[in-house]
Amino acid sequence: MTPAETAHEFHSTEPRTHEEWYELAARVLPGAGLGGYSLPEDVRFVIERGEGAHLFDVRGCRYIDYVGGAGALILGHAHPHVIDAVQESAPKGLHFFGTLNEYCVRLAEVLVDAIPCAEKIAFSTTGSESTFYAMRIARAYTGRSKILKCEGGYHGNHDYSNFSVSPSQPANYPAGRPDTAGMPASIHEEVLIAPYNDLEVVRRLAEENRDDLAAIIVEPAQRVIFPKEGYLQGLRDICDELGILLIFDEVVTGFRLAYGGAQAYFGVIPDLASYGKIVGGGGPVGCVAGSEQIMEQCNPVNRGGANYAYINGTLHGNPVGCAAGLATLEILREPAFYQRLHDRSAGLQSMCQEVLDRHGLAAKAIGQASLWQIVFTEVEPESYTDFLRADMASTRELDRLQMHEGLYVLPAVRRFVSAVHSDDDFEQTVSALDAACLAFKNRQTS
Ligand SMILES: Cc1ncc(COP(=O)(O)O)c(C=O)c1O
Repeated sequence: MTPAETAHEFHSTEPRTHEEWYELAARVLPGAGLGGYSLPEDVRFVIERGEGAHLFDVRGCRYIDYVGGAGALILGHAHPHVIDAVQESAPKGLHFFGTLNEYCVRLAEVLVDAIPCAEKIAFSTTGSESTFYAMRIARAYTGRSKILKCEGGYHGNHDYSNFSVSPSQPANYPAGRPDTAGMPASIHEEVLIAPYNDLEVVRRLAEENRDDLAAIIVEPAQRVIFPKEGYLQGLRDICDELGILLIFDEVVTGFRLAYGGAQAYFGVIPDLASYGKIVGGGGPVGCVAGSEQIMEQCNPVNRGGANYAYINGTLHGNPVGCAAGLATLEILREPAFYQRLHDRSAGLQSMCQEVLDRHGLAAKAIGQASLWQIVFTEVEPESYTDFLRADMASTRELDRLQMHEGLYVLPAVRRFVSAVHSDDDFEQTVSALDAACLAFKNRQTS
């Protein structure tokens, strides 16, 4: 084969089979994947398209999607109103830089109106950037450097987040366990770890580090663990007492639990909040929100000043992403949107619990609103340590078996119910779980 022919084969746009896609992916992507998740070989697939609550793969198989773009797609795939907005904005230019565009200013106005703690927002591109920036702004504002985060809490892919996200043992608080290689050793001392839902440990660590602690960052609902009564208010009180900033990571909860996010749902207002996912309607948009006084740290006229926090990125304020976000939020403002979504999701959650109970499996559907997960556990987890006691191997196995039955759920990861899952989808989901439970029990007895 000549070099020209090889190049032609390599860049071929001919249809490929499932196997050919994976052969190619194995050649060009580490582990033939996109990073964090490596699906078992028997359930992995290459997406051809998404439509509403469904995904279709290159073999023509259909899946009911509960991954929902990691929670970004509260309106499902290719929602007509969102696609119209993208089609209106895209021909005007996919990307600009350095000055404003109408979509980003309009989205900023909508976000400031919606987010209780927001007087100003600063755009980013992803949730990870948003939490990274929130921490930077908190440091610039307080002149302190340490950050306290919760064990089991995930704030994205950067170095300050990747401590004790999924440790195999509980931490010796406040020492965190790195979740990845490649982080500078010095960062270890900057991140303090506390168990979620435990105000006593937070208070002790905050008091011990009062001169160095810039912020406490928390997922208001950590994965599928919801806060105990008074927990978030307790964090607010500790922060107020010690002059520490409270950051809510609303990358998932923002516009998912309520239009005003966790702040509205739980009635506690943080100093700063980080967003991603839903605010971009599936596009590359995130933001940090806060009061005028705190957000002044990233006002570019202060560049060069001692407290200036640098926030900048090539895709910040991306017009197409902002148009998708604006169209999404417009639908979320419809009366009773969240009540309907939560009621329907709770209905599915309890139907799934009935199936688990009928099969006599020691598994629980844990979570609330439109985010929950099936976990083999005796107790309702209140912290990450409770998850360490759960049977995660069985949890993963039951999820894998549900994938065999046509559901897209990542093994041992929470699922997101969207506004476009239909009654039919729910019925098929319950039947799929029923079949998966049977297969699970047969495996145990064989
Ligand atoms: C709570 C939370 N924070 C931050 C992130 C990071 O967001 P992104 O993947 O957009 O960088 C995620 C991602 O799932 C998340 O769940």
